[in-house]
Amino acid sequence: MNINSIWLNFISLFLTYLPQMKCFYYVKNKANRENAVTYAFTSSIMMHAFMKECIGKRLECTCDTKPVGPKSNVTSWKALCVSHYTYSINLTKLILDKSFENSKDSRALMNHHNLRAGRIAVKRTLYNECTCHGTSGSCQFKTCWQRVASPLSIGNEIYKQYKDARLVQVVKDQLIRKKSTAKLDNAEKESKPVSAGKLVYLERSPNYCNATMPDGSILTTIGRNCTRQGESFKSCSQLCLKCGYKVKSVTVPKTVRCNCIYNLFLKNTVNCELCLKNVTHNWCIPSSFV
Ligand SMILES: *[C@@H]1O[C@H](CO)[C@@H](O)[C@H](O)[C@H]1NC(C)=O
Ligand SMILES: *[C@@H]1O[C@H](CO)[C@@H](O)[C@H](O)[C@H]1NC(C)=O
Ligand SMILES: *[C@@H]1O[C@H](CO)[C@@H](O)[C@H](O)[C@H]1NC(C)=O
Ligand SMILES: *[C@@H]1O[C@H](CO)[C@@H](O)[C@H](O)[C@H]1NC(C)=O
Ligand SMILES: *[C@@H]1O[C@H](CO)[C@@H](O)[C@H](O)[C@H]1NC(C)=O
Repeated sequence: MNINSIWLNFISLFLTYLPQMKCFYYVKNKANRENAVTYAFTSSIMMHAFMKECIGKRLECTCDTKPVGPKSNVTSWKALCVSHYTYSINLTKLILDKSFENSKDSRALMNHHNLRAGRIAVKRTLYNECTCHGTSGSCQFKTCWQRVASPLSIGNEIYKQYKDARLVQVVKDQLIRKKSTAKLDNAEKESKPVSAGKLVYLERSPNYCNATMPDGSILTTIGRNCTRQGESFKSCSQLCLKCGYKVKSVTVPKTVRCNCIYNLFLKNTVNCELCLKNVTHNWCIPSSFV
């Protein structure tokens, strides 16, 4: 099996989500929400890769046909091999969970929980791909195959969990949801162990709008360039306005290449004209700035 493909998958997925996670460089060695997600991503993508290897028969995984999930309203249902599923879990655990399994250390408990949550995301995103047959268009009979979701779908599931992650503390070797001072009403609910599919973290993330880093430097979005359109992670709305900052815009004329013509016959050259264009730059400024 080509182990590299696992890491390529993982890295490309990671890069897809990196910008949405606000500030990943503050993740390493921190028991925060962003760190939780890196563990879940790692285990889910590794498990996904193993399942694909099993299904593609590139790994010698035996197959029994006990269904993994519930079957829906179909005439004929082809389940995944449950042993492919458990084998992938076992192998992923063997590689990733070993050092956390027997430790009662809070950080080990957190990592172990999040690795497991990643594997649960793989299970949650299993889906049925169906074809209809019977008299034309009636879908009287339906055959479905259970499929493993794409890394992107699994990533979406984990991103959902990222937003719904739980702040926890360790009580009697168990991860218990930590009471927030704001919500003391539901004490009973909060003293229960966190369910397995949830991401957990032990410390709050810094305020990425304006945080003092351990080395004393200030992490802030002030000065960051942003885009006026949309609501992406690069948008002024996300980067500046949500942080309580203002947006400064400056439009300057700029000489740019334009009307370019790709010339196949002249040694693949590209000929462009030079145009004067107004270019607008936006960036975040402190709200007190006038
Ligand atoms: C299940 O199949 C029956 C018969 O074909 C159909 O009437 C019913 O709407 C289906 N239910 C769902 C949830 O698809
Ligand atoms: C996975 O591990 C469990 C528990 O150790 C074991 O019972 C099961 O047989 C393993 N499954 C496969 C497919 O290796
Ligand atoms: C950001 O942090 C700096 C230093 O801690 C502080 O002086 C400043 O008032 C903060 N700004 C906002 C908008 O919170
Ligand atoms: C913002 O954009 C300007 C113009 O493109 C560029 O000169 C500057 O380096 C950018 N600043 C940051 C922090 O990326
Ligand atoms: C750039 O902006 C100036 C001032 O608003 C305007 O006069 C000019 O026509 C603009 N140039 C282009 C190329 O749009």
